[in-house]
Amino acid sequence: MRNFSVSKGEYDDIEAITALYRRVAAVAGGLARAVDEIHDDYVDNFVWKSLKTGVIVVARDLKTKKIIGEIHAYALGPRVFEHVLGELTIAVDPDYQSIGVGKAIFTELMREIREERSDILRVELIARESNAKAIAFYEKLGFEREGRMTNRIRSVGGGFEADIPMAWHRPPVGESF
Ligand SMILES: CC(C)(COP(=O)(O)OP(=O)(O)OC[C@H]1O[C@@H](n2cnc3c(N)ncnc32)[C@H](O)[C@@H]1OP(=O)(O)O)[C@@H](O)C(=O)NCCC(=O)NCCS
Repeated sequence: MRNFSVSKGEYDDIEAITALYRRVAAVAGGLARAVDEIHDDYVDNFVWKSLKTGVIVVARDLKTKKIIGEIHAYALGPRVFEHVLGELTIAVDPDYQSIGVGKAIFTELMREIREERSDILRVELIARESNAKAIAFYEKLGFEREGRMTNRIRSVGGGFEADIPMAWHRPPVGESF
């Protein structure tokens, strides 16, 4: 049985989400931001935008109630992008990775979009090329690579690496997911 729960994120979760992002950012090679770039206003901004225009899902340890995973995506702003959710970010506590938390919260985010947000036709994200675990995971969830942004990411320790834009498209009516 799973030792965590999955539910919609709330505004009151901001402090716990900030702490989670700092724990995840402390491990290089995952999130684009470093620990000192996880500001309160960064988290405040994405939680608000996701609550107002997008989707936000959290996972909690059943025993401690600590937030151990979070995923969100939100509208980009201009009306021409009203059918798109972007800026998708997922973070799972390093102590809870590889036990199914990421899959559970991502599956719930996509369920909500499929079933409750028929206005959304496209979901986009970007992953660094070396994050092979994340890219393989997104492909399993139906995301497709849409190109390769050469030298977009400055690597820790020098040099650059590519960023991979990926997207999920709502299948035309009548086709299965
Ligand atoms: C990427 C991340 C969100 C995945 O979450 P997770 O809870 O560790 O992943 P899960 O246990 O749910 O596994 C999901 C999939 O990831 C892959 N995966 C998991 N653990 C893996 C490992 N140790 N090695 C390779 N692939 C692995 C598998 O494809 C797995 O799918 P499967 O179970 O159907 O085989 C998480 O590791 C994380 O937060 N990493 C740091 C931040 C980050 O990289 N964010 C994404 C930036 S684009």
